[in-house]
Amino acid sequence: MRFTIAIDGPAAAGKGTISKGVAAHFGFAHLDTGLLYRAVGRRTLLGEQPKTAALALLPEDLNRDDLRTAEVAQAASRVAVVPEVRAALLDFQRAFARRAGGAVLDGRDIGTVICPNAEAKLFVTASAEVRAQRRYLELTGNGSQVTRDQVLADVKERDARDMERSEAPLKPALDAVTIDTSSLSIPDALRLAIEQIQLKISVA
Ligand code: DC
Repeated sequence: MRFTIAIDGPAAAGKGTISKGVAAHFGFAHLDTGLLYRAVGRRTLLGEQPKTAALALLPEDLNRDDLRTAEVAQAASRVAVVPEVRAALLDFQRAFARRAGGAVLDGRDIGTVICPNAEAKLFVTASAEVRAQRRYLELTGNGSQVTRDQVLADVKERDARDMERSEAPLKPALDAVTIDTSSLSIPDALRLAIEQIQLKISVA
């Protein structure tokens, strides 16, 4: 079956966790599209031009352990404003979305630009404070030396850049169902997401 689930939202809203859970529940393949931008961002930190880096991306670029740092996240958000970077990553994402057996893609512009015809669309969000707190725990858990204030400033800076760019800005698709995870546990958020998607699968 070809069925595409688009899950968009800002950083640390719970997209990743929900996407993995949804993919496991329905037996679909999952693509974290943020990793593509992180891999390009990482290459630019090593001196490459954004467009060159996007065109040269290799599968092993996506499997690196060092894509999860705050520095790479900021670099990803910066390269994500470059139209040639977004264009270079488009075909790969669309091909993934239409693979047999179903696909879940999570990112910022999946429901609006990459897969406007996705059969199910979610917009997963949470307050900036809640998202910063989650990211803070994740980063300090990985041994990063950061403060809560730094992480909150970082989250807000990335939100602003992702929402205000002219190319594929972060926003909910008109037909997306919004899930605010600010005061939801992970199991509750996942249950809600699965319920919403099940409704779409039942009528597909
Ligand atoms: O989801 P993430 O935090 O790994 O994403 C890192 C950056 O990549 C994010 O700040 C903006 C960019 N991005 C994007 O522009 N479009 C996507 N579909 C996914 C990520």
